[in-house]
Formats: sequence, C-alpha cells, structure tokens
Amino acid sequence: MMKNGKYLVGIVGFGGIARIAHYPGWKKLSDVEVIAIADPSEEVRNIAKNQFNIKYVFDDYKKILKIDEIDIIDVCTPNKLHYPVVIDSLKSKKHVLCEKPIGISGKEVEEMIKTSKMEKRKLMAAQHMRFTKSSIVLKKYIDNGELGQIYFSIANALRRRYLPARDTFIDKNLSGGGPLFDIGVHILDLTYWFMGCPKVYSVTGITLTKLAKRKDIHGLWGEWDREKYNVEDFASGFIKFKDGSALNLTCSFLANIEQMEDFSTTLFGTEGGIKWPSGKLAKEKYGVLQNIELMIDLLPDNPPHHEEIRVFFECVKEDKEVPVKPEESLEVIKMLEGIYISSETGKELIFK
Ligand SMILES: NC(=O)c1ccc[n+]([C@@H]2O[C@H](COP(=O)([O-])OP(=O)(O)OC[C@H]3O[C@@H](n4cnc5c(N)ncnc54)[C@H](O)[C@@H]3O)[C@@H](O)[C@H]2O)c1
Repeated sequence: MMKNGKYLVGIVGFGGIARIAHYPGWKKLSDVEVIAIADPSEEVRNIAKNQFNIKYVFDDYKKILKIDEIDIIDVCTPNKLHYPVVIDSLKSKKHVLCEKPIGISGKEVEEMIKTSKMEKRKLMAAQHMRFTKSSIVLKKYIDNGELGQIYFSIANALRRRYLPARDTFIDKNLSGGGPLFDIGVHILDLTYWFMGCPKVYSVTGITLTKLAKRKDIHGLWGEWDREKYNVEDFASGFIKFKDGSALNLTCSFLANIEQMEDFSTTLFGTEGGIKWPSGKLAKEKYGVLQNIELMIDLLPDNPPHHEEIRVFFECVKEDKEVPVKPEESLEVIKMLEGIYISSETGKELIFK
C-alpha cells in the first residue's frame, strides 16, 4: 500500500480482457492504483507504457512480485499460466483475483486454496457473470424460495460462429481446453451458484472437434490456424448431484444453430422456473401457472467486470469472505475436468 492509503495493484498479462475490462474496473476505484503490469510481449508492454501510463512495466511476472507495496495481483494470462502465477503471488503475500477458469485441473485449484489459506490472502475467480444485474436479481428470487427446490438445469454456452482466433484459446498448451474451459466455465459457474452449489455425484460427457479444423467454416472473429487448433469445438456434459438434482451443460464455439448465440440457463424448480438472463419466470400460484416478466432493464447498470472488481476489492479492504468462494470454483473445475475425462474414457466419472 502507498503512504497515501491507496492500494496498489499489479496486472499479470495485459492483453484483451486486462485492457478492455479489468484496467477500467480498477481505475474506477478512488483508493486503488494499477502501478505495474507484466507481459512477455514487447508490443503489449509498449501499449502499457505509452497508452496507459503504467509506472512499472515488466517482461516477467516474478519482477512484479518483488514490489512489496503491491497488495493485489490480477491474473489475466492464458489459462495454463494461471496456476504458477496464482501460487507465486499468494506466496509473495498478495491477494489474488484470477481470470476464469481459475485453473485447468482440480489438483491445481486445491493447491491454490491450500496456499491462500496458508498465506492468509484472498483468492477469487473472476466469474463476472455472477455480477450482472439479472444474475443478482434472479439469485434473490431463488434464495427467497420463489422457485422451490431446483431439481434440473439446462446451461448453454453456444456460439454460432464466434471462435476466438488467438493462440490463447485454440492452443491447448495455453488454454488447457476449448469452449468447455473458455465459455462453459461461465455458464456452469452461474448455474451451479443458482442451484445452491450442491455436492457433485457424477459427471459424464463428450468433447468433439467437428467444425474447427475445416477450411470451409469461417468465424466472425477472424481466421484461426487450422493446423494449430488442438482443442474441442463442442462439449456436452450431464452432471448429477448428491441431492438428486442434475444439470446439462452444452457449449460450442461453432454450432450450426439458428441464433448467433445462446448463452442461457433454464432452471426447473418445484414452485417455479426461470430463464437467465431474460428473467422470465413461470410460477404456479393459486392453482394456475403464471408468466411473470422481471423488468431487469429498469435497474441501474455497472458493467459486471467492474462490479466483480469492486466487490473483490471491498473484501480485501474489509477482510470479508469473497463472494465467488474458491471451494465453489474447485467444484466447477472438477466438473469441467470430469467431462474431458469421461469423454476420453467413455465412462461416467463417480465422485467420492
Ligand atoms: N471474463 C471474461 O469475460 C473473459 C474474456 C476473455 C478472456 N478471459 C480470460 O482472460 C485470460 C486472458 O485472455 P485474453 O482474452 O486477455 O487473452 P490475450 O491473448 O488477449 O491476452 C493474454 C496476455 O497474456 C500475456 N502472457 C502470456 N504469457 C504470459 C506470462 N507468462 N506472463 C504474463 N503475461 C503473459 C500475453 O502476452 C497476452 O498479452 C484467459 O484466462 C481468458 O480465459 C476472460
């Protein structure tokens, strides 16, 4: 922390999401300063220096960790690098906000949780979809029992022709996986949270690469390297929970579907059902089923990435428990990893 009471933040990985969403989120907080970034790309470091006026610009994240005054590290590297950066940052006594997926295996996340507890530092996955206004409102309805017991959900993260064409997403050595890790993690985390985070019983699933290697298929985010592409472009999983409820997750970068995108979750409850993000509620009352439309658009907006950063910072400042609990993120990553394992083995994976 600086002498004037400002908290200092270092961002590791200053690419797309760091510049578009995280930096502006931190910038909104009057008692925070983003003082340093680390990125191996010279082009990115020049942008940080010349366009963002960042004071310390490094080629190696370990150099940021040597600055004792830095309180918080914000990890925005490709997925595969989350683990070493999170562990080293926690060990250097920094609080850590880490982009999704927080890790690419349950083992990695377990180690992160252990280290955050040992070092007494906050750790949170940047699951910004929990911070949209419709998520916040729907969660209130759910927690106040409006849906009764949620016994099933359909979680979709389906894109028609939106394949992120950068190596960060198409090369398994950087991403750890395809749409399952990139966008499946968003909708699974959100749905799991809506369902009250029950204990996982089993996972079964498939991961396929059907369209992404083809030269006749084009995306709206530019061309990608067909040779290098080594992750799935489609995944689907069926997850059973120990409380008897279940969830169906399906995601894709390139799906032959009618709409441009279907990023949604449908929750089936004993007293009502609801669809996110539209906020359309179907509720049985006085012997008749009603359709209720929640006027979510009327609520004031703070971009969800900014809200996530504001709330995380508040938890650091006031020493409160973070809202995206690392133990919940661990279950999410175990489910995603389980779909990959089940696809490979052809078997249902039963959790202890
Ligand atoms: N929450 C969201 O809405 C959202 C959206 C996009 C990406 N993401 C996540 O953010 C992360 C980054 O994605 P992106 O779109 O910004 O990718 P990107 O490729 O635009 O940026 C990644 C940056 O990390 C840098 N980098 C690579 N190795 C590094 C290292 N060892 N140390 C420091 N920096 C390193 C790269 O040079 C690059 O500048 C990923 O985990 C991704 O899943 C989240």
